[in-house]
Amino acid sequence: MPARYEFNISTRIVYGRNAAAQMGEIAGGFNLKKIQLITDKGVANSGTLEFLLRPLKDAGIAAIIYDDVEYNPTVQTVDKAAQQFRDEACEGVISVGGGSPIDAGKCVGVLATNAGSASDYLGIDKVKNPAVPVICVPTTAGTAAEITDVAVLNDPTKKQKMGMRSPHVAAAVAMLDPVLTLTLPPEPTRDSGLDALTHAIESYISVNAWRVTDTLNLKAIELIGRYLRTAVHNGNDIEARDGMLTASLLAGMGFHHTKLCLVHAITLPFGGIYNVPHGVSNAIVLPHAMKFMLPGAVSKYVDIAMTLGEDVSGMSERAAAEKAVEAVEQLSNDVNLPTGLAPYGVKEEDLPKLSESIADNFMVPLSPRIAKAEDILEICKAAM
Ligand SMILES: [Fe+2]
Repeated sequence: MPARYEFNISTRIVYGRNAAAQMGEIAGGFNLKKIQLITDKGVANSGTLEFLLRPLKDAGIAAIIYDDVEYNPTVQTVDKAAQQFRDEACEGVISVGGGSPIDAGKCVGVLATNAGSASDYLGIDKVKNPAVPVICVPTTAGTAAEITDVAVLNDPTKKQKMGMRSPHVAAAVAMLDPVLTLTLPPEPTRDSGLDALTHAIESYISVNAWRVTDTLNLKAIELIGRYLRTAVHNGNDIEARDGMLTASLLAGMGFHHTKLCLVHAITLPFGGIYNVPHGVSNAIVLPHAMKFMLPGAVSKYVDIAMTLGEDVSGMSERAAAEKAVEAVEQLSNDVNLPTGLAPYGVKEEDLPKLSESIADNFMVPLSPRIAKAEDILEICKAAM
């Protein structure tokens, strides 16, 4: 348990149905005359950008588009987008999409005022100068990248994912409009929603948790239990989309402070090496890692079970705690989560070496029960 707690979200949060219509006013508030809009091809082809380009045009703000961000964005992609930013003399960034374009946009904002390549700033507190104004607009509900001070980039030459963590990485504004998530297809809705669930659970059981983050995380878990199924199976339901976007935000506010633990430590290399979608790998590993961590957080597991609607009356505390794992598995099944990592190309023979390196990740000791390499190997095998 830390000696003291702090709570600080430096990103201004603007939330509301049709909030995107205010983008001109918000970007204009920074005196921006030309912005670079960073996104991916999926968002660019979905028609979503019109919700933002129209109010920008009305406010007299020019926009150039960089829509070449891939899933698990690379250092090279960020460097390329930053070059366009400089060539076009842009003044600010609006990043639109899931965690990938949002993280890429946050890094471009940094490179606009810090010379060199994104690779120079990977690690903790390596960024010297404040970024240009970055406004993040999520079109998925899960990563909460719009409010965190970290961006994760892939370096294919080193076959690893690394975070750029600094107060200067945090966006100036997070603009959350549930209407923009209505067209997200079922699979990414499921994957991002289960990522948010993983965030909320990991932050709730983290050794860094305290009552403020607990409150945020339990509300997030409750909303995900109530709305994820509907958001996946009936994507046009604005109530469900709104609930999921709020849940993602709340969990983000929680884990921004507590950090995450065993699940995210385990799945980090699966993204870097095999390109497994982040939410999928987390959700597949989650119940297996939860079973391992249960003895370290029994009463908190009971809270999770009850928050997910399980009836635990008359049960022993231990039996009630196990209901949390069952509830998570049930929710994952209900939204058609694949059951194993092997179909995504994860190779069993790689696991012993991977488990050794995962055991050294800083997130492992933040778990309520600390896993050794051999424990991690067992969890990974169970998740295959
Ligand atoms: Fe995550």
